[in-house]
Parts: sequence; structure tokens; C-alpha cells
Amino acid sequence: MEAPKRYFVETWGCQMNDHDSEKLAGHLERRGYRTCAAAEEADVILLNTCSVRGKAAEKFYSDLGRLKLLKRRRPDLLLVVCGCVAQHDRERVLERAPYVDVVLGTRGTNHLPELLDRRIEEQTPQVDMRRYADALYYDPRYIRRGSKVKAYITAMEGCSKVCTFCIVPVTRGAEVSRPFEDVLAEARLLAERGYKEVQILGQNVSSYSSGGRDFADLLEAVARVKGLERVRFVTSYPSEFTERTMDVMAAYDTIAKALHFPVQAGSNRVLRRMKRFYTREEYLEKAALLRKKMPRIALSTDVIVGFPGETEEDFQETMSLVREAGFEWMYSFKYSPRRGTPAARYEDTVPEAAKRDRLERLQAMHRPMQERALRACEGRTEEVLVEDSSKRGGGALTGRTEANYVVNFPGDAALVGRLVPVRIERANPNSLWGEVVSNSASRSLLGGARPHGQAGL
Ligand code: SAH
Ligand code: F3S
Repeated sequence: MEAPKRYFVETWGCQMNDHDSEKLAGHLERRGYRTCAAAEEADVILLNTCSVRGKAAEKFYSDLGRLKLLKRRRPDLLLVVCGCVAQHDRERVLERAPYVDVVLGTRGTNHLPELLDRRIEEQTPQVDMRRYADALYYDPRYIRRGSKVKAYITAMEGCSKVCTFCIVPVTRGAEVSRPFEDVLAEARLLAERGYKEVQILGQNVSSYSSGGRDFADLLEAVARVKGLERVRFVTSYPSEFTERTMDVMAAYDTIAKALHFPVQAGSNRVLRRMKRFYTREEYLEKAALLRKKMPRIALSTDVIVGFPGETEEDFQETMSLVREAGFEWMYSFKYSPRRGTPAARYEDTVPEAAKRDRLERLQAMHRPMQERALRACEGRTEEVLVEDSSKRGGGALTGRTEANYVVNFPGDAALVGRLVPVRIERANPNSLWGEVVSNSASRSLLGGARPHGQAGL
């Protein structure tokens, strides 16, 4: 069999999966493979999967079913299943889809090329679930990044929390921190290459630890890297998020005043059964302290409704917490039982209709809060990091404000990669529309330090 040359990647799930796909693509490119626009043209198809909720996993299997036809037509096509479904389902992936060639675990990223070689040599499907210790050791120069403007940096792999609903500790393994110097070296490399924004990644960055340094130390060091204009990070675990991290955030202009701060539920009884180690009161206190130290901060959160045993009263506590915390953005989900998690064995399940009803009520209550937060931007001039030409076309550009709101505005594609001042003209339900502030005004707003026409790349 001749060596395949073109690859196509499909990614489900979170930022960690997005970034793993970039790492996997990087390994393939080093071997001479090139990306292509459609699965039909590829010699290797990577499916990087998510199993956090049942729906995501089922969607993957139905997409995989469709690839069976493609594989039948082109037996040389190599199908690789990686990510959380691969790690969770292991050999079962092959039972359901015997035409898959490689099933690769979440810590096997560095070993993709050799598995493909072995598949070709041995002519049998390969399943590799080993939790390789080298998962955190790689050369960041070879990551194939999806953007030239903003980049992910891994700080940690895995999670050692015990949230009873969550499959991530099973699929991604116990938490490990990447060496401080490696994270920092990658941040410097990215700045040299002209990246303006980095997002530090970990399932629970609050527990980062390397050579006596904690997350606040890491964040501060990255924020000081010359050339980086915006630093973000996900995800923070509320009870481990330190006041010093807040102070570092407040002290550096380069750190975006935006925080994803997942609460999950507003009832102490439910939080206890979820094994989230904070109370409603402690959470709200931290949220209030964040707003006190950084009045402009935008808070986003994750909420689960219909966790086993959740009563209408418990749910009302979630409603009131969301109202009180005033989240600018909220991601909300119906509880989805995951095989292998403690909560999957809880018997007092909430009927599907009640879950749906609660989710609808929660979202209906929160929608005006989100709209108000977006409308509050109208008339303001926001610094927007221009990421790309807008998907909506028509010569519009798209970028994000510091609070991470999407802004579309007319402008020249040469602005991609720059931070430009944009006057927000209109708030839509999920995004903003604006106009670039003229050149002279922009100089005064940005202190004259960033003349137009210089991408700084
Ligand atoms: N710490 C992680 C959390 C991963 S899971 C992070 O970096 O984001 C992302 C979100 O999915 C969780 O915050 C939770 O709200 C939701 N979630 C996890 N397991 C779930 C389940 N079994 N059912 C419904 N939602 C779930
Ligand atoms: Fe999941 Fe809780 Fe870790 S939500 S990723 S077990 S912090």
C-alpha cells in the first residue's frame, strides 16, 4: 500500500480537542501529509471525538456510519478515531465499526504516525489506549494551528476532580501539569510568530503546579511575554480559583477581563451530590469579589439541569443563582448519564420532559441578561482582535472583544491579525455589529503605539 498523502480532520467537543487536532495534524504534516477540504478527497480521516454528553457521542457514531460507504469505495482510505469516545469505548469502536483502522487514546497524540505505519504493515486495525507519559512533551513549532491570530497553549492534561456527572477524568486520565518553562517557551514562540492572543488550556487550570509555581505564577509569566496582547484561560474550578489569580488578572492589561467560571448548579444539596467542593454562597462571594476587583469583567458559566434528585426547589435555586451572579454568558445542558461515572448509578432520575422544561425556563430567564450585556456595548468603542473575514461574507470582518463577544464589521482583510478600535453600532442576539473608528481616533485610543499598516508579524 502506498503512503497516503492527504488528511482531513473532524473535531467535536471542547478547546482541548480542538488543540489535540492541531497537534495530530502537525504530526501528519511533518510526515509530508497535506490537509484537504473534504473528507472525500482524503487518504487519512481523523475523527476527534467528544463523549461529555450522550448526544455528542451518538452524533459521532452516526457520522462514522456514513464514512463506511466511502471506505468501501476506497479500501486504502485510513479511518482514525481518537479523542474521548475512542478512550472510553476502546475495542467497542471496532465492534460497532469494524472498518475503522486506528483507535487512538487521548494521551497517544505523539504516536499517531507509527500507528498508521503499523496499520499499513500489519494489515490489521490498531487500538492503542496507552496513557503515554510523553503526551505533554512535544515541539510546539510543529503544531498545525487553525489560526494565525490566536493560539492555544496546553498547561495541563486530564482532571483529578471527582464531579459525579463527568466522564472527563475517565477519558482524559489524572491531571498532570506541563513544565512551567515549556509553557512559557511556547508563549514566547507564538509571540515571535506574530500571534496576538493565547488561550491557556486545562480541564482545571486552577490546580496547575510545576516546580513550586501555581497557576497565578504561570498566568503572570505569560501575560508578561512581549508581543502578546491578549491572554485567556479555561477552565477555572471555583473553589480552587485563588484571590491571587484575580489580582494577577486585574494587574495586567494583557489578560482579558473575561472568565469562564462553571457553577453547574445553584442548590447546595445538588452541588454536594455532584461533588463540587463549594457552596452556592462561596461561589457567589467569589463572583462578587471578581466583579469588585474588575468591574468590567464578563463572567460565563456552565449549568446542568435535571441532575438525579434535582427537585423543582433545587432548580429554583439554580435560577436565582444565575440571576444573582448576572452571568454575561451561559452554557446550559440537560444532565446526560455517562457510563462509568458515579451519577450514572443514581436512581432518582429526572424525567426527560422535566429536564427539557427546566432547560427552557433557565434559558428563557437568562436570554435577556445576555442581550442586556451585549446591548451595553452599543455606543462603546471596543478593542477588537480581528480574526478573519466574516463567514457571512459581504466584505465583513469578524473578531472578538475583550469579553469574547463576536463583532462583525466592514473592513479591509489587511486588518486581520490586528487589534482595532471598533465602535459598536448594534447588538444582535448573539453578536455585535460595528464600524472601525477612523485612523487618527484609533491612534489616540491606542496610545499611538500601534500604527495602522503594521501587523507586527
Ligand atoms: N473542566 C472542563 C469541563 C468539561 S465538561 C472544562 O474545561 O470545560 C464541560 C461542561 O459540560 C461541564 O462544565 C458541564 O457543565 C457539562 N457536562 C459535563 N458532564 C455532563 C453530563 N454528564 N451531562 C450534562 N452536562 C455535562
Ligand atoms: Fe469534569 Fe469536574 Fe474535571 S466537570 S473536567 S471532573 S472539574
